[in-house]
Amino acid sequence: MKFKIQPTDVTFGAIVSGIHLSQLTSDLLDDIKEAFLKYALLIFPGQNLSSKEQVEFAKIFGEIEYLVDNMETIPLSNRSSNGRIMSDEEEQIKLLKGNEIWHTDSSYMPRASKASVLSAKIIPDFGGQTEWADARAAYDSLEKHIKEKIDTLNATHNYFVSQAKIGHQVKVGAAYGFYEGKPPIYPLVKIHPETNRPALYVGRHACNIIGMPEDEAEELLLFLNAQIVKSQFVWQHSWSPGDIAIWDNRCLLHRARPFDSSKERLMMHTRIRGNEISETALNYR
Ligand SMILES: [Fe+2]
Repeated sequence: MKFKIQPTDVTFGAIVSGIHLSQLTSDLLDDIKEAFLKYALLIFPGQNLSSKEQVEFAKIFGEIEYLVDNMETIPLSNRSSNGRIMSDEEEQIKLLKGNEIWHTDSSYMPRASKASVLSAKIIPDFGGQTEWADARAAYDSLEKHIKEKIDTLNATHNYFVSQAKIGHQVKVGAAYGFYEGKPPIYPLVKIHPETNRPALYVGRHACNIIGMPEDEAEELLLFLNAQIVKSQFVWQHSWSPGDIAIWDNRCLLHRARPFDSSKERLMMHTRIRGNEISETALNYR
């Protein structure tokens, strides 16, 4: 390795240094892709990439998933385009608030995301960290009879429902993910298409289990989510401006941590599209 990889002290994730992501050679690309599959989360402190450089980095891992037409990277911010810090009552803030609950990106879409890139631009003094949790290690830790029970079960993922649970009623077409049409169905256990490791595939958008009474499904989803976010499977990163991270949505959950909403937080986000075969919902194939 021509750069330094410092694994975290949990079951996944590594901090990468001694490399600049705007100057990658083909052998470094291969090493980074290998590290991404091994650690599932890579954090590169102090990169200060431009949006263009961030997109070029993201494209190493696949095609861009467009959340807004013609925008490969989008700002995640509590400041509006006219420079005002938005209040908790505004739509955009209600969507950002949803990100504070454990989820995997785009599981509410007919084709779920492969990976996400996030970089820090403006960071409040307190809070605003990101946390990730290892859904592979959580699956491995389950008792055999639970694995047998869930191995063949499938759940619907629905962004309308997950926002409604935090009191936010969203109209069709209001933002990315709020589309007309049937909510996607994904297996509770996702086999990673590149490593073949099984992982729990749930998070906040999973809301229903096919063929199971509602209250029983709710209880099982709560249980599975709780297994993933046990402290031994969770890693938190406190951002400094210039840091950038990439993670594997196929096997990790993540969430943002709260911060003082009177202070600005600006992150830049690029999402990498899932594979047509392995990330397309069962009912969209
Ligand atoms: Fe997210």
